[in-house]
Amino acid sequence: MKFWRQCFWVLLSSAAVCCAQAEPSDDASVNAMLLKMQRIEQSPAEKQLALEHGKERALLCFRCHGEDGNSLRDYIPNLASQNAAYLFTQFEKFANGQRENYVMSKLAPSLTTEERIDIAVYFADKPVLSRTQGVISDAKGKKIYDSLCYACHGTTGHGDQQYPRIAGQPYVFLEKTLLSFKNNDPQRRNSPMTGVIQNLTEADLKAVAAWVSNLP
Ligand code: HEC
Ligand code: HEC
Repeated sequence: MKFWRQCFWVLLSSAAVCCAQAEPSDDASVNAMLLKMQRIEQSPAEKQLALEHGKERALLCFRCHGEDGNSLRDYIPNLASQNAAYLFTQFEKFANGQRENYVMSKLAPSLTTEERIDIAVYFADKPVLSRTQGVISDAKGKKIYDSLCYACHGTTGHGDQQYPRIAGQPYVFLEKTLLSFKNNDPQRRNSPMTGVIQNLTEADLKAVAAWVSNLP
């Protein structure tokens, strides 16, 4: 049984790799993986296994993202409580070059699809701890959030299967990321975010980043 399951995975992962090479953003194979993740979420036994494997494979990530997914540096995002689907799809983006970061772009392609799934399930399961952000929230940040951001990221900033959680991310990461979106930085290209924040000034972006960073 275990043998056949492994054979199945080898076949499936090599199929995914072939497709990814032939066509960098193969939505069909990513969607198949997202369905697999949904199945894992629904089966306690499979989830337990994914959590155990994920923790082993995530060793490589701990020195930056923290053992419990709470980032150890302010420019590095938390992975804790991030939606598993978002973690997986962003990882795919680093692997196929749509998103770029010196370390992430090297790490992502070195893991198998199954490992990426298990790692995503592992970090998504961890709670976000509160951190000292060094910025205070004000009414301006709240106003921008409540008029522009809540529609996709939710009133609490926790996102859903489709949109990432942003609540409680380190302020430095949020500010840098919002500027990247606004300036169409190749690291974060082709995002709906670019249009959404186009008319916000740098001061607006700082205010909304401060608000979001302090959301629980
Ligand atoms: C040397 C530090 C470092 C290591 C090690 C590292 N990362 Fe990252 N990771 C980063 C940085 C920095 C970013 C943010 C890049 C950016 O600004 O777009 C990031 C971004 C991410 C993102 C996107 C999150 C988001 O909210 O946008 C995911 C997912 C991720 N890393 C997963 C992993 C996993 C899984 C591992 C281990 C296999 C790992 N990282 C190892 C530094 C690291
Ligand atoms: C139309 C839907 C939509 C709206 C409105 C929106 N976002 Fe986003 N946001 C997204 C999507 C989708 C992503 C995923 C990244 C991507 O596609 O590039 C994202 C990503 C982000 C990220 C990066 C998260 C990460 O960890 O990588 C931040 C930060 C963010 N949004 C903040 C905001 C803020 C602040 C606002 C309000 C000013 C806002 N968003 C409004 C859809 C939206």
